[in-house]
Parts: sequence; C-alpha cells; structure tokens
Amino acid sequence: MTNTHQHNDTAEQERQQQYILRCGEYVRKFRLRRGRAPLALVKTFGCQMNERDSEKLRGILSAAGYELTDREDADLVVYNTCTVRENANLKVYGRLGYLGGLKKKNPDMHIVLCGCMMQEETVVEKIRSSYSFVDLIFGTHNIWKFAQLLCEMYEKGGMTVDIWKDTDQVVEDLPAQRTYSFKSGVNIMYGCNNFCTYCIVPYVRGRERSRAPKDILREIERLCDDGVVEVMLLGQNVNSYGKTLDVPVSFAQLLQEVEKIDGLQRIRFMTSHPKDLSEDLIRVMSESKKICPHLHLPLQSGSSRLLKRMNRHYTKESYLDLCSRLRQQVPGLSLTTDIIVGFPGETEEDFQETMDVVRRVRYDSAFTFIYSKRTGTPAASYPDQVPEEIVHDRFDRLLALVQEIGREQAMRLEGETRTVLAEHVNEQDPSLVTGRLANNMVVHFPADPSVIGTILPVRLDECKGFYYLGTPCIESQVDFG
Ligand code: SAH
Ligand code: SF4
Ligand code: F3S
Repeated sequence: MTNTHQHNDTAEQERQQQYILRCGEYVRKFRLRRGRAPLALVKTFGCQMNERDSEKLRGILSAAGYELTDREDADLVVYNTCTVRENANLKVYGRLGYLGGLKKKNPDMHIVLCGCMMQEETVVEKIRSSYSFVDLIFGTHNIWKFAQLLCEMYEKGGMTVDIWKDTDQVVEDLPAQRTYSFKSGVNIMYGCNNFCTYCIVPYVRGRERSRAPKDILREIERLCDDGVVEVMLLGQNVNSYGKTLDVPVSFAQLLQEVEKIDGLQRIRFMTSHPKDLSEDLIRVMSESKKICPHLHLPLQSGSSRLLKRMNRHYTKESYLDLCSRLRQQVPGLSLTTDIIVGFPGETEEDFQETMDVVRRVRYDSAFTFIYSKRTGTPAASYPDQVPEEIVHDRFDRLLALVQEIGREQAMRLEGETRTVLAEHVNEQDPSLVTGRLANNMVVHFPADPSVIGTILPVRLDECKGFYYLGTPCIESQVDFG
C-alpha cells in the first residue's frame, strides 16, 4: 500500500463515521415513532471471511443504535451471502421468499443482500426481476460503505444497488461487533489470485491484497487489550501473504511478530494452500508457543492428473511429502482438509488416489464436497462432467472412510490432559461448559460459567467420536498443545 492510499483511507474512514451518525438519525426517528429501537438481523452464509465481514456490519449497525437480534422478523434484515457452491445460492433464494411474506406484514421492514453472491451479474438481475421487494444490494468490495448505503436506501426509496467489480482499497478501523469476547477472526489479506478451475472465489472476491503488517498487529493488540486470547488469521491463501506489499513480508515473518503480542495465547490461521507452504512456516510453527498445532490443508483431489486440471500446482507426491515433513517437525499436529468429489473427468482410478491420500495422511476431519458447476469458471465448460449417481456413490464411500479415520484419530488423546479454551455453556446440559483444544477438537466438562474466555487444563476422560468429555484439573503439569 502506498502512502497516498493510506491517507485516503483515513479520510474515507472519517467520512463513513459521519454516515454512521446520519443512520443514527434514522434510528432516533424510528424510536420516536415506534417507542423502541429498530431490530436488525445480520445472517451469514459461507466461510469465516463472511463471518468476519458480518461482525463489521453488526459493528456499524450497533454504532448507529440498532438493536441486534437473531429474529428474522426484524426491521432490518441483512443476508451476507455465499456462492461457492450452488446449494449456498439456493438457500438464499429459499429464505428470500419467506422474507417477502414478512415484509408485507411490517411496512417498516428493509431487506439488504450483500456478500459474494451479489458479485454475480446474473444474481442481481434475478433479484431485480423476481424479488423486487429487496431494498439494498451491495457486494464484497464496498462493505465498509454500509452506513452510507443504508442512508441512501432510507433517503431514496426503491432498490439501491452498488456493486464494484474489484478494488485496491482497504479501509481500516471501522467498528466491529465480535460474536465472542475472547476470540476473533482477523483479516490479513483479501481476494485470491489462484484461479483453481472449479472455484468462483477469485471472481467474487477480486485480486489478492495483503494488509500492512503494522495494521494487522495494531488490530490484534487492541483486541488483546479488549480481552481476546485467541485469533484466527484469515485469508484465502495465507501462505502467499505479503508478497505484493511495497516491502514484502512473508507469512512466517508475520506470525513471528504476532507471537510477540502480550496477552495473546493462541494463534490459528486459515486457509493454507499446499503449493505455497514454506519450510520457514513449518519451522515457525514448530518453535512457536502460541500457534495451535492444527493445519487445515485442502487436498481437493489425490490424483495428480486432476490436480493439474484443477490448476492447484502440486502433485499427490508433493502433498504427501509436505504432510510427512509437517508431521515430523510439528509433534501432535492435527491435519484437516477439504476434498471435492466428481470434478469433471474424475475416474474411479482418480478417486482411489484420493482415498489413498486420506488413508495415508489420516486427517482428524475433512470437509467433503460434491463438485458444483460455477458459471464463468473454466471447469464449468469441461465436457466430461461426471454423472450424478457415480458422484454420490463415491461421495458416500469417501465420507465413510473420512469418518472412520477421524474417529480413530480422535481417540489418541484419551486419558491425557490438555489446555482448553472455555467457550460457552453447553446447550443440552447447563452444568457443562464447552471448549476447544488447541487442535480444534471440542471438549465438554463440568465447570462454572465464570471460566468462559479462559484457558484451563482439562483431563480428556472419554472420547465420544468427535468430541471429549473431560474434567478440569486445578493444579497439574500440562503439556502445551
Ligand atoms: N481458499 C481455500 C478454499 C476456499 S473455498 C483453499 O484454496 O483451500 C472452500 C472449499 O470449497 C474449497 O477448499 C473446496 O474444497 C470447496 N469448493 C470450492 N469450489 C467448489 C466447487 N465449485 N464445487 C465444490 N466444492 C468447491
Ligand atoms: Fe478458490 Fe483456489 Fe482461491 Fe481457494 S485458492 S479460494 S480454492 S481459487
Ligand atoms: Fe462463500 Fe465467499 Fe467464502 S463464496 S466460501 S463466502 S469467500
């Protein structure tokens, strides 16, 4: 980022603060008329980046005086959408029909759509023609303009639409309302340059932009001053962080700086592209006291032939080699992954290569997806799409294997004591608190809700498949990790 940019960004941030005040005027008028604050719902579809964006939208709404709610019959409903697979889109259209009905009953209701799906022209056309009751549509590049767009929506009436094709702008320091007081996502970069042939993300999130290290570190320091003990550094490919900065910085170097922040106890990151995972990163992970021994390393396919067609830039062999180096140097590491079944041209042989990698790497868990054709991506026009019955059969076999291995892997800590970040009271049994191990597994244990937000040692008494039942230990030697 250049200095001129930074100057502009500060000016932009101040401008947006003015719009938040102007929204506050609308809230005040609503209060006078209705005797209560307007209720606002922000519902997220999709990945952690969208979750984090939603926290920013909530931050703006709450600064303007809205009362946040989980109810869909709110006065302002914001859907932050995802379009990575067709299902994600179908869910949104399904919910929209229902929202239209609610709006007829509440003339004050406003409906806002934003996020990845809105970056697709065909989607916006469809909403204009079939869901004309929607009040505001914006995309992924201008979410920091939310307050300004809300003002336009209230002042103009009709449907307000503002979609940018791409941007090189990063606006810092807008308010965010965190879902948890003790942990937070932190964007370190936006966009993606990889263009995997099945994937729509680079088209809807734009080109890769890294935030300046000092902005990231300052944000984390402030979060820690405010009680955060765990951060998740977010980017579509964190391993290529910093390459395009004026003064290039590697992801491994950034992690070393984050490690030094007082009060911070756990560092996670997502997602790591195998092609860019450096030896330096493995070393930094192995030496760190704060980086969690968990790596999400999407495989997508175990067939080198398909990986090439997917434009992933690694092979089955190089992926396996990477995993064994990681396992050697980072003791107790949990590996998790994403796998796509039924990519165009996938044969039974290719599929068996995927099953083979799953058996060899022994993932703690894996997200398995059926290939979904995304308009505009190269793979959508490949002629050899795999028939649905074959894909479903493969999907079922893969899922069974992934679950069997996941259960076996989970058992390995039974009887041991590990540190747990206590996150919330158990929904089924209020005498239990639910937390997470550094390797991301869930643990339920009897404790007072006052422990929530702290990290404490817990003996992992019994493994129940994908979670543990445990007992907190007051004074004991704990092996960190
Ligand atoms: N940037 C991350 C992935 C983000 S999308 C990475 O490169 O690993 C999350 C996951 O969705 C991907 O890992 C992939 O497994 C899946 N996915 C993406 N596009 C898909 C498609 N068209 N069909 C099915 N799954 C897809
Ligand atoms: Fe999609 Fe590939 Fe970018 Fe991940 S790296 S977001 S799968 S294009
Ligand atoms: Fe979906 Fe956008 Fe994330 S398409 S997976 S919400 S980057």
